[in-house]
Amino acid sequence: MEERDSWRFCDPVPRFPRYRRHAPAAPLFPPNFVGLIYLYAGMCCMIGARRGVGIRGQPSLIPRVSRKWLGKPLMYGIGTLLVMPLRTIHGVGRMFGAARYLCNMTSVSSSLQIELVPCLQDNYAYILHDVDTGTVGVVDPSEAVPIINALEKRNQNLTYILNTHHHYDHTGGNLELKAKYGAKVIGSEKDKDRIPGIDITLSEGDTWMFAGHQVLVMETPGHTSGHVSFYFPGSGAIFTGDTLFSLSCGKLFEGTPEQMYSSLQKIVALPDVTKVYCGHEYTLSNSRFALSIEPGNEELQEYAASTADLRNKNTPTVPTTIAREKQCNPFLRTSSPEIKKRLSIPDHFDDARVLEVIRRAKDNF
Ligand SMILES: *[C@@H]1O[C@H](CO)[C@@H](O)[C@H](O)[C@H]1NC(C)=O
Ligand SMILES: *[C@@H]1O[C@H](CO)[C@@H](O)[C@H](O)[C@H]1NC(C)=O
Ligand SMILES: [Zn+2]
Repeated sequence: MEERDSWRFCDPVPRFPRYRRHAPAAPLFPPNFVGLIYLYAGMCCMIGARRGVGIRGQPSLIPRVSRKWLGKPLMYGIGTLLVMPLRTIHGVGRMFGAARYLCNMTSVSSSLQIELVPCLQDNYAYILHDVDTGTVGVVDPSEAVPIINALEKRNQNLTYILNTHHHYDHTGGNLELKAKYGAKVIGSEKDKDRIPGIDITLSEGDTWMFAGHQVLVMETPGHTSGHVSFYFPGSGAIFTGDTLFSLSCGKLFEGTPEQMYSSLQKIVALPDVTKVYCGHEYTLSNSRFALSIEPGNEELQEYAASTADLRNKNTPTVPTTIAREKQCNPFLRTSSPEIKKRLSIPDHFDDARVLEVIRRAKDNF
């Protein structure tokens, strides 16, 4: 039980069968020598782990000093392992009794810093920095200047631009940043004609590597037809753009309530501790609407109060977590009797129709 849970925490891929579609069928042993060394280092650690010596804190087969420089190669070793078909790697993990420790190593090795950069009125862009390689990316740069300022402060160049969808307030900085840094633009295959400067197109189930960090692409349509979310399992973080906000979801410009419902369900199937980085700071106004239709929700009352405190101090409410959103976000609470009663929703409505009614009520709030 515990093993299965931590496996899920590490890699939720098996929950979405279509993720396997693009998984390259790599040979068990990488063809190059360096890959073999990394794999060997990974195996050493797993065997160490199996013998009951901790990766964290406790004495280990690998001395404390060498753990530091082993961190990055290990991660690449794990990255290599991850391109193997999932069934195989799960099998290998079980064989060594080590699936659990693989996860721990991923999070120990996780060296991804996420910096929030306020843009325009209420947008957030996010600068991603891999500490070990110095690789830098940005998610949804609505404008270039705040990003350039942040990068110059840190004396960094930009390698990648990730876009969740084509709207101007998520891509407005693409071309200027690309011209200045030669960064590559990454977005949905479906939006290849709408995302300015796009270089790399990805689809549901694709895995893309950001400096050794696995990035899973989840298509999450509803707000726009080509909307994607980027999930970083090693960091327990997801960038949801305008699909899932704290206490709300995006407006349905190009999608149906069914699509939005299933996109949201896909996101909240991730582990509860997953940090959610959304595209806008809308939490305070969302909390007023949420309270109006579910005033008896105590977690929501508390979160609304702490949100008001944070915003008074001009502090971001992002990231939120999957756990909190499940407790408080009305669009994830389509079975709440209180919400149904407040909005006079008949019992026979399915979840998507309930979501549609909540969405309409919010649009008119
Ligand atoms: C690995 O993580 C699991 C839960 O995520 C934890 O129960 C276990 O103690 C960890 N093992 C080590 C060696 O840190
Ligand atoms: C950024 O790129 C410029 C131009 O290619 C280069 O001169 C500079 O050293 C780079 N800065 C860093 C921190 O890598
Ligand atoms: Zn949008």
